[in-house]
Amino acid sequence: MPKVISIINLKGGVGKTTITVALAEFLAIEHNKRVLVIDLDPQTNSTVALIGEDEWTKRNQNGQTLHALFKDHIDDTYTFEIESSIVRKTSNLHGGLDTLHLLPSSLDFVKIQDRLIHIWQTALIRPFDVLKNAVNQQLENYDIVLIDCPPNLGIVTQNGLNISDWYLIPTIPDHLSTYGIPQIISSVKNFNRKKSDGEVKLLGVIASMYRSNVNRHNLTLRSLESQVQQGLLPRLFETRIPLASKAADATYFDAEGINTLKQKYGNNGDYLYQSFQRLAEELQTYVQI
Ligand SMILES: Nc1ncnc2c1ncn2[C@@H]1O[C@H](COP(=O)(O)OP(=O)(O)OP(=O)(O)O)[C@@H](O)[C@H]1O
Ligand SMILES: [Mg+2]
Repeated sequence: MPKVISIINLKGGVGKTTITVALAEFLAIEHNKRVLVIDLDPQTNSTVALIGEDEWTKRNQNGQTLHALFKDHIDDTYTFEIESSIVRKTSNLHGGLDTLHLLPSSLDFVKIQDRLIHIWQTALIRPFDVLKNAVNQQLENYDIVLIDCPPNLGIVTQNGLNISDWYLIPTIPDHLSTYGIPQIISSVKNFNRKKSDGEVKLLGVIASMYRSNVNRHNLTLRSLESQVQQGLLPRLFETRIPLASKAADATYFDAEGINTLKQKYGNNGDYLYQSFQRLAEELQTYVQI
């Protein structure tokens, strides 16, 4: 069975999606891993980054996204089909990667968000078991599953946590981005009491959009390190993802002239490519894939 990792933070815009997509691509290309990305975020960002808008529109019209799965459980219908919903060739690298698969999200998710609570009333399963029931049999096809979560700990994120062994918290190393970390840890602890099998454990915190010349960033990192020493956090990843314009470009599927990891993540002074490369390696020193 694969290692399943949810990427979460209560704060939006801290680099969850960028890190999810980059890790998926580095693990697939440089480490020959069979990777599944599950996009649980209604913003649909990792979906569009991995398959582009045209393919997403087609699949969305055909009900081949996680929106259809959750809607089925609210409306008591049977439209979602897991086999045909998994996209089996994704990414704009090397003409598409056969070993990087995607379970896409949909912007339509937004429309059903406040109805998710009704899953209770129409189905015999717990609201956070929906994803598990749908993907369970597919998981054995992968070495690693990365789940891009929305910036909250609602029912959809809980569906991701419910099938996860680990969770990762990317954060910009500043006060506001790290502020919610204790809250995430205690909420996940509470969630673990109802989780189906085994606990989901915090793998660590990853500093994202780091700027070494910003004093505030370095002070925040020191504070996170001291939390590790006090046993409040299991680890702060040694690899820091720098603030780099290539990172912002990387989620643009239709970018021209992009074929290799180096072209996509750059191979210049800001060390973005090298950082994602090290991050994929560091991850594997903690999690045997
Ligand atoms: N290392 C980086 N350097 C520069 N820009 C970055 C970097 N990482 C992400 N960005 C940009 O910052 C914005 C937020 O990043 P991203 O979408 O990955 O965050 P997120 O945590 O997934 O956000 P959300 O909570 O909305 O899902 C995006 O525009 C992205 O392109
Ligand atoms: Mg995101």
